[in-house]
Amino acid sequence: MEIRVETQPYASIQADALVTYVFDKEDKFDGVLGEIDRAMDGHLRALAESGELTAKSLETVLVHFPAGLAAKRLLLVGAGKPEKFDANVDLRRIAGTAARSLKSRGAKKITFLAREGERAPAAAQAVVEGLIAADFESDKYRSEKKDRAVESAALAGFESGNDVAAAIDRGRVIGESLNFARDLINEPSNKLTPRMLATRAEAMAKEAGLGIEILDERKIAELKMGALIGVAQGSVEPPRVIVVRYTPANPKPGAPVLGLVGKAVTFDTGGISIKPAANMEKMKYDMGGGATMLGAMRAIAALKPSVPVIAVIPATENMPGGRAQKPGDVQTAMSGKTIEVINTDAEGRLILADAVFYARKLGATHLIDAATLTGAIEVALSNVHVGAFGTPREYLDKFLESAKAAGEKMWPVPIDDEYEEMIKSNIADIRNTGSGKGGGASTGAWFIKEFVDDTPWVHLDIASTCWADEGRPWLAKGPTGIAIRSIIDFAMKMA
Ligand code: BES
Ligand code: MN
Ligand code: ZN
Repeated sequence: MEIRVETQPYASIQADALVTYVFDKEDKFDGVLGEIDRAMDGHLRALAESGELTAKSLETVLVHFPAGLAAKRLLLVGAGKPEKFDANVDLRRIAGTAARSLKSRGAKKITFLAREGERAPAAAQAVVEGLIAADFESDKYRSEKKDRAVESAALAGFESGNDVAAAIDRGRVIGESLNFARDLINEPSNKLTPRMLATRAEAMAKEAGLGIEILDERKIAELKMGALIGVAQGSVEPPRVIVVRYTPANPKPGAPVLGLVGKAVTFDTGGISIKPAANMEKMKYDMGGGATMLGAMRAIAALKPSVPVIAVIPATENMPGGRAQKPGDVQTAMSGKTIEVINTDAEGRLILADAVFYARKLGATHLIDAATLTGAIEVALSNVHVGAFGTPREYLDKFLESAKAAGEKMWPVPIDDEYEEMIKSNIADIRNTGSGKGGGASTGAWFIKEFVDDTPWVHLDIASTCWADEGRPWLAKGPTGIAIRSIIDFAMKMA
């Protein structure tokens, strides 16, 4: 999608549609909307009076051949109540909703008109992120592709100058990085094995100017990543550990290093503790955490924070088979800790155990991991919030501030010492499932913490938020790209 700043007066801009938004308040038609309404002879007011235009959040009203405008259509998107309006979140959704609704109507060239209150660079960035994220289509494997996409978007009404241009560039990088991750998450497991994921990561790193190293099964064995090997041994597809590095221009010696660790199980059958058939196809997205970190790295390469960032992504299938690990098996992790594998379906924490430990060995002083780790997080938070765990609390709080700034819903979930008891094993150091009742997301988090030790660490359980079963007005159904923007924000502010 081509995106540019438009400085012509909005009324004379040729386009398939001019998009703007309406607040749900007494006088809906103030400022620029009042102008448009007057040019249309009070047509918009009439729509409001008839009840067709209420301005409730993300309602769309389309007017054809609007009088006084050079555009062929006027699309008004509801912005909801002004006091509930959060420009960062809502502009992204408004722009996304507009793009999705217009592309389904065949519009190719659109203009987005900012209202008086949202003319700043940050608003332009939000609009661009929304437009690009709305552009995502999962029709790669369809013989007949929908030839429907918004090809160009002009941004009108924004402040002019370099700050807006830079904001547009940032919005594009972030939007495209989100889509890069979403594309990976969408891939079926036969099109994205651990080796293929590594190849895709290599291509991305090369293009973005990031360092990359792929550990193959030999290197993984040499490093004694026993927890990862235990999961991978049931598959004929060999595992990989993808290590991506971002180094700032003037790295300061002794400065913090951010480590991003993402679970990449390219297919999770459950292993010998096999999952039921219903919905098992969805376990192709069990590599969502790994894709999240690759997407974040892609953006970080372009946005250039002042801290070094290193991503470690353990990639494997989780399969049953003649060589598969079995419930009750004991594995020795890279750290030396022994693990009794009670349930082979609790594989994410096993591969993360070795990955977080390895990230620390590579120099990470601060960690964030993202993983589609537990069904229990859906029980707790549904598909609304990401479950966010972490220690120390101040580090988690800092991350939650970034989530807030990015407009991504995340909620702190406890990992008190009591959960430690629940993963004690009768024969090994720890077991991979909780022995108590409930708290499955917290025992999963505690398991990872065993390998994190005192390193400041945030764990994001994205099992219920990484994939949307239903489309939303601003986002297609399927991979959501959740957490990427928060992680980018955090890296940018870490300095
Ligand atoms: N990949 C799953 C978690 C998951 C469930 C992700 C639903 C997305 C949607 C994970 O590996 C898993 O199987 N977790 C088990 C852990 C249990 C055996 C302790 C779970 O949550 O049931
Ligand atoms: Mn599993
Ligand atoms: Zn899994």
